[in-house]
Amino acid sequence: MPRTKFVAGNWKMHGSLAGNLALLSAVRAGAAGLKAQMAVCVPYPYLAQAQSVLAGSNVAWGAQDISEHIQGAYTGEVSGTMLSDFGCRYVIIGHSERRSYYGDTDAVVAAKFAASLKAGLTPILCVGETLTERDANITAQVVTRQLDAVIASSGVAALERAVVAYEPVWAIGTGKTATPAQAQEVHALIRARIAAESAHVAAGLQILYGGSVKSANAKELFGQPDIDGGLIGGASLVADDFLGICVAG
Ligand code: PGA
Repeated sequence: MPRTKFVAGNWKMHGSLAGNLALLSAVRAGAAGLKAQMAVCVPYPYLAQAQSVLAGSNVAWGAQDISEHIQGAYTGEVSGTMLSDFGCRYVIIGHSERRSYYGDTDAVVAAKFAASLKAGLTPILCVGETLTERDANITAQVVTRQLDAVIASSGVAALERAVVAYEPVWAIGTGKTATPAQAQEVHALIRARIAAESAHVAAGLQILYGGSVKSANAKELFGQPDIDGGLIGGASLVADDFLGICVAG
């Protein structure tokens, strides 16, 4: 069974009610009839807006982070059940910006991954190496360590209800895309790591590539055997750019 391509937008901390209405409406209209699976992950305050504009369309919506706790005295945090209340299907977990600026260690990422599954959400688990780590030839160790933390805590079967995104940190928002061959190499490594635990889970897992994906490079990236779509930052903020990538899926 070939895996369906999945294109997910990560708006990061961008948007306004007026601008989002135009963007979401254009994405909704342009996505109709496309065969890729699609989603946009918006800032928390705009989840209700995403829900109202996208409901009944073939574009799902989600959040960019989640609390590892279910409820309680955690000022400023947002739980998985709250995300579910707003119809979220997806949540990005362990984005490199969360890992580097907000202290999301492998253990925190594993806890947030588990919390998202508990709330019935599909986690999009981000992994990826920095430029220093790539230059030190430890990409495989870094990515394996990040994956193993989640497998150790939730078990490999949990990945049947998850998506993985390989995002080399040096390619995020920099205009530097990993070459299709560079990305494929790491995607194959991720799939092999999971296959060592379960060939079945590995075969069905969608592994997205993220890092300066544009409509101009999406087709070649998505044409690699282990690249099942993309996690799109900057280009997801412009409807035509995002849809141009979705068309490649
Ligand atoms: P980019 O971001 O497409 O702007 O490089 C990708 C991401 O951080 O998810």
